[in-house]
Amino acid sequence: MRSFVLAAVLAIASVANAQCGSGTPDARVTGSGSSFTATRGSSTVYSGSDYRAAIQAAVDSIGAGQRVSVIASGSIGANTITIGSGKIFEGCGTINVGNRSGRGAIESVNTNDVSIPYLTMTGNPYFGLRFYGTRNLNLGRITMNLSGGLGIRFDRDNPANYNVRMDVITVSGAGSHAVETWNIDGLNINQVIARNVGESGLLLQATRNAWVGLVDGQNVGTGTGYATFRMANNNGQNPNGNYNTNIYVDRVVSRGGGRGIFCVSQSGAVVITQVDLSGNGNNSILIENCYNVSIRGGRVNGGGEVRVAARSEFPNNRDVWITLQVDNTSVRESPCGQNINWTLSGNGGRNLC
Ligand SMILES: *[C@@H]1O[C@H](CO)[C@@H](O)[C@H](O)[C@H]1NC(C)=O
Ligand SMILES: *[C@@H]1O[C@H](CO)[C@@H](O)[C@H](O)[C@H]1NC(C)=O
Ligand SMILES: *[C@@H]1O[C@H](CO)[C@@H](O)[C@H](O)[C@H]1NC(C)=O
Ligand SMILES: *[C@@H]1O[C@H](CO)[C@@H](O)[C@H](O)[C@H]1NC(C)=O
Ligand SMILES: *[C@@H]1O[C@H](CO)[C@@H](O)[C@H](O)[C@H]1NC(C)=O
Ligand SMILES: *[C@@H]1O[C@H](CO)[C@@H](O)[C@H](O)[C@H]1NC(C)=O
Repeated sequence: MRSFVLAAVLAIASVANAQCGSGTPDARVTGSGSSFTATRGSSTVYSGSDYRAAIQAAVDSIGAGQRVSVIASGSIGANTITIGSGKIFEGCGTINVGNRSGRGAIESVNTNDVSIPYLTMTGNPYFGLRFYGTRNLNLGRITMNLSGGLGIRFDRDNPANYNVRMDVITVSGAGSHAVETWNIDGLNINQVIARNVGESGLLLQATRNAWVGLVDGQNVGTGTGYATFRMANNNGQNPNGNYNTNIYVDRVVSRGGGRGIFCVSQSGAVVITQVDLSGNGNNSILIENCYNVSIRGGRVNGGGEVRVAARSEFPNNRDVWITLQVDNTSVRESPCGQNINWTLSGNGGRNLC
């Protein structure tokens, strides 16, 4: 009994420890309205009405391996907070952001070992979080309730990223994608949850050696060809040009929206273990000029047809292996790909090679 109580107390303590701002952060931002204070230890590094300046002053006051906790809620406007190497940034309050064209509301670029264990963001950023040139970036529990813009973006035309981890990323109301990657080698994502998002839930591009636990989308990309889970622009292709599997996705769930799963433009090298797609407004699944793509099980119920298609500008699909229950919608392979094998159950039309 006693050890049970002790264990319970310790369990509660460890949960509390794992909360945003817990323990003794090296720097903190507190206040509200038009009065904010940034402290580092016992010294005040900012005091005034500018929430953004308070946050940046706190971030700038700490060194590598140290932690800043933003306890206060407020608005940074159409501005950018920059996080340097080795710093731990916790957004415990709600950080409201504006639209700074081409830029992130929070950025970390050309850095090592940055960690954002917690963040809650609202507003309409151009990019909520923007990264490039990172090594060992860690994103924890990130919640973005947006009214437009793009959630998390890794740049296309900038240095690559190595070893990126994300725990649970929840994005609603983005006008564009919830999470868009370019140029990541080594990506580990627990969950991407996208609700009422204009374009994709998770969009991977030129990204390899990835594992994703779950992509879950509702009303993602409605009226567009985007998808809850989209792979594009040579995603998964290895540096030597081959498509040996290096993208592993445990589960994709999609309801309504545009497409469920879309692989396009010479992507592939992917195994998706389980799917649960229903009522997608565009193709439930579209595989277009992709190589070494396998869907190993799960179900499509209703929605647009499951399609293997090809554009003429890239080589045709090859090495596609799909095991799936498809009800209340059709499956079509056109044109015929190379080495496409199907193990289908369920009702609906079938037009296979
Ligand atoms: C974000 O949205 C979720 C789900 O609607 C809600 O539970 C949460 O309170 C919202 N948070 C903020 C800060 O808007
Ligand atoms: C941000 O501003 C640009 C113009 O600078 C505009 O094109 C874009 O739609 C705006 N995005 C949001 C989310 O408001
Ligand atoms: C499906 O996606 C294609 C390609 O983006 C687009 O042209 C078409 O309008 C979409 N269809 C629907 C029903 O949204
Ligand atoms: C597909 O990936 C698997 C696993 O890495 C590999 O064994 C196989 O050779 C690949 N097939 C092709 C045709 O690339
Ligand atoms: C489908 O293709 C894969 C890989 O090419 C192969 O391992 C599998 O046995 C094939 N399945 C069927 C039913 O032909
Ligand atoms: C097909 O859709 C109808 C209507 O949504 C549903 O009642 C039925 O259960 C579905 N069929 C299967 C096999 O799931």
